[in-house]
Amino acid sequence: MLDRYAVMGFPISHSLSPVIHQQFAEQTGQKISYEAIEVRPESFDQAVEEFFNAGGQGINCTVPLKELAFKKADQLTERAKLSGAVNTLKRMEDGSLLGDNTDGIGLMTDLCKNLGLSLAGKRILVLGAGGATRGILGPLLEARPECLFLANRTIEKAQKLKAVFAPLGALDVSTYEDLLGNKFDLIINATSASLSGDVPPLPNGILAKQAVCYDLAYSKKPTAFTVWGKEKGAVLSVGGLGMLIEQAAQAFYIWRSVRPDTKPVVNKINTAGGH
Ligand code: ATR
Repeated sequence: MLDRYAVMGFPISHSLSPVIHQQFAEQTGQKISYEAIEVRPESFDQAVEEFFNAGGQGINCTVPLKELAFKKADQLTERAKLSGAVNTLKRMEDGSLLGDNTDGIGLMTDLCKNLGLSLAGKRILVLGAGGATRGILGPLLEARPECLFLANRTIEKAQKLKAVFAPLGALDVSTYEDLLGNKFDLIINATSASLSGDVPPLPNGILAKQAVCYDLAYSKKPTAFTVWGKEKGAVLSVGGLGMLIEQAAQAFYIWRSVRPDTKPVVNKINTAGGH
């Protein structure tokens, strides 16, 4: 029997994860199955138990289940603890569930390896202070930027994150309008505004020369934020397909101890019009 894996979320029908993991499996000769299962938050616990009781080996969790997966895990990695969310569950030999979060490392791999950016000494701005932001602040601070600003509509949420991440480094918390007068080399959109076609109300003139804009959201069409970045003169303004594929590669490694090559998968999805 094939080792069984799945992604759970709601909604889930547009998830690219099954295609990505099937390509990883083919490429590395791993015999696995990977399916998408629509799970509402209220039935998450039951769905996870049924999946693992039936011999399942691992689950990816996406919106809106990552915080529930964090609670469900028996053990957590340090990065999962910091982000307060789990996107990868692995069944351990003793039957317990390990919870990890590969979103942050997925973003960093896309930024630094695939796009060739160096973040040390750079001025970075993150938009939003929800779950997506929590998953990426740790590795961004560890990359030693000159400064890391966190802007959010609701300032209290940004202040909370500043306190949580204080042991790792300083965060400059700001409203969108108070960003006026600052310039950034990299702006990362971690709000859910793109999902409704909106862009946070950013002041003019905040892109430094050669600035890069990165939207954690991805879709077939350019997101509202990547369009904004291009209009404002960013040298590069991209959506989060690369991060999605890299976080999947990390999850695959956690489960199978084999590192897939992400490049052919990115190319194949781009060619198929998935981005
Ligand atoms: P996620 O887990 O995807 O981060 P979340 O926890 O609901 O989702 O957080 C959504 C983030 O997007 C929040 O920072 C939210 O701002 P508020 O905290 O002020 O609510 C932000 N957001 C959503 N829609 C937005 C919009 N139209 N403009 C600006 N920010 C928006």
